[in-house]
Amino acid sequence: MSRIDRYAVIGHPVEHSRSPDIHALFAEQTNQALVYDRLPAPRDGFVDVARSFFAEGGRGLNVTLPFKEQAAALADRLTARAERAGAVNTLMSTPDGLVGDNTDGAGLIADLTGRLGIDPVGLHVLILGAGGAVRGVVPSLIAAGVAHVTIANRTRDKAEAIAAACDEAGTVAATTLAAAPHDADLVINAISAGLAGEMPALDTDVLARARGVYDMIYSDTETPFLHWARLHGRPGVNGVDGFGMLVEQAAESFQLWRGIRPDTATVIARLRQPQDTL
Ligand code: ATR
Repeated sequence: MSRIDRYAVIGHPVEHSRSPDIHALFAEQTNQALVYDRLPAPRDGFVDVARSFFAEGGRGLNVTLPFKEQAAALADRLTARAERAGAVNTLMSTPDGLVGDNTDGAGLIADLTGRLGIDPVGLHVLILGAGGAVRGVVPSLIAAGVAHVTIANRTRDKAEAIAAACDEAGTVAATTLAAAPHDADLVINAISAGLAGEMPALDTDVLARARGVYDMIYSDTETPFLHWARLHGRPGVNGVDGFGMLVEQAAESFQLWRGIRPDTATVIARLRQPQDTL
């Protein structure tokens, strides 16, 4: 068995994951001896592949689509934020078994306050989409002090289910994309269709009051949502894509595993040209 500590990102697909590059830079920066690989798993093979990895001495896994809920079921113990999210993106081997954490929400908050320069306290946040990614971040937005979250989704039931699961004192509302409110201070896109280059038809008035826009999708070129927001949002509205969130959630995972907080700004700068201002 190799003496060097082994980590990996598991997913389907996982070939294009940037996590190995990010963690290699974190390890270099903090002088940690570790290896971090891509670990592909068949769609129906998450549990077997993850169990083998840990049985062979692996120390930690990042978990990406479509396995985050299965990872929560596999863990022997969940952190409070993973419990609230119902999904796990970080697994850690401990003497007492597998610990499951969810660092996605903390990654989003760090990026909103850092790269986007928006303090979430007291804001009305509109989230477009209601997939697994949204379920992971809504509890963190509430914990960060937002006044109100509206989840607008093509399928209203899915938005309702997330709101019901994490509503605290009426903070979270659910609606359809067509009925999305026009008074949000911050609009966050989590509609995965944005990846393919198309934005669903949306009333541009949802941007009327937005001081900031955030796309949880990331791309080497401007994402369709950020392009749409640049054309239809308030003049000078700030927007960033989800690459910073990816690096920030990775830093949270790294800290959990290694007990050291890496510097994210230098890693973001090294891995891409900044696209911070629309
Ligand atoms: P993730 O885990 O990344 O959030 P997901 O769970 O597959 O991915 O969720 C995808 C989200 O994009 C959902 O909110 C989905 O809407 P539905 O719940 O109605 O399926 C949304 N989405 C995907 N394609 C869409 C499209 N063409 N128009 C509007 N919403 C779309």
